[in-house]
Amino acid sequence: MAEPGAILLSVTGFDPAVWLEELKRQAPGRRIVTEPDGDGDSSIRYAVVWKQRPGILNRLPNLAAIFSIGAGVDHIFKDPEVPDVPIVRAVADDLTERMSEYIVWQVLDHHRKGPRYRRQQADRVWNEDRMQPAARDVTVGILGLGLLGLDAARKLRVLGFNVAGWSRTAKTVDGVDTHAGEEGLDGFLAVSDIVVCLLPLTPATEGILSKPLFARMKRRGPLGPATLINAGRGGLQNEADILAALENGWLGAASLDVFQTEPLPETSPLWTHPRVTITPHAAATSVPAALIPPMIAQMEAYERGEPLTNLVDRHAGY
Ligand code: NDP
Ligand code: OXD
Repeated sequence: MAEPGAILLSVTGFDPAVWLEELKRQAPGRRIVTEPDGDGDSSIRYAVVWKQRPGILNRLPNLAAIFSIGAGVDHIFKDPEVPDVPIVRAVADDLTERMSEYIVWQVLDHHRKGPRYRRQQADRVWNEDRMQPAARDVTVGILGLGLLGLDAARKLRVLGFNVAGWSRTAKTVDGVDTHAGEEGLDGFLAVSDIVVCLLPLTPATEGILSKPLFARMKRRGPLGPATLINAGRGGLQNEADILAALENGWLGAASLDVFQTEPLPETSPLWTHPRVTITPHAAATSVPAALIPPMIAQMEAYERGEPLTNLVDRHAGY
């Protein structure tokens, strides 16, 4: 039997040591090489990456597949020389469940006026504010009805919210008011009181959360102007436009987990805006113990001649 293919680990932004340890634990029979070693190594068949060093993958002559340690793969395409081999994205219940927790948390926080009550608490103000819309009177619109968007939609439905969704291709989803493509965007925005973004960052979606979209959002919903929650990618949003939309009444509030520049610079006015909630790209962290086993299982299946799954469509960019 042929020797199992070696793995190159090329990770920046996360601690590579914890990924290396988990790879060793889950794949004791495989050689694992950590970048900067491995340059040009013909025994390497798989690369496990997050923001890999540009050019490194293209110098591996026998690379069979690239595995992203995140659900998003835009970080891989920042490298202009990504070789034409299959790219597998991270898919695991652990990741999906963490993201749904974040979305449900933020939706409920806005729905139940968390930011307002926290401000009141800081000022020792007792203002009961009996205007509490019911979940059944609020529509949460999800931009991106993929693996993460669909799970969040299902959980929000259980809480009683109406749910709308927007995707690139048309879909029918039980209990969700679905819209697709540019022609479906206005209909989606017209019903969405809270807009949750779970889109991937691609050439088609870059900068979508900006003035032209905010101008088309709902102004008078049960919670006031629409709320924005972005847990997709910072490159989807224009932060100056978010701040302007909060000021001119196009947006009521925003929860942002991702930013155009990460870490968010200390000088950003988003940090202190009273209607902005900031989390540090923490919506759904990648946990090695949850994500490495499916990667190794895929490598083993591939070596038995089975097809890889959860593949990225290079043309679509996600
Ligand atoms: P999927 O690929 O499963 O879903 C992507 C969804 O976006 C699909 O519904 C797709 O449409 C839709 N979409 C893509 N391009 C367009 C477009 N041009 N117009 C309209 N809809 C579009 O991705 P996941 O759900 O797994 O992940 C989504 C993103 O979440 C990741 O790419 C990543 O950036 C982000 N993420 C953030 C994390 C965090 O901690 N903040 C953690 C994990 C992920 P269609 O269904 O037609 O293909
Ligand atoms: C991801 C992320 O893409 O953590 O999984 O951002």
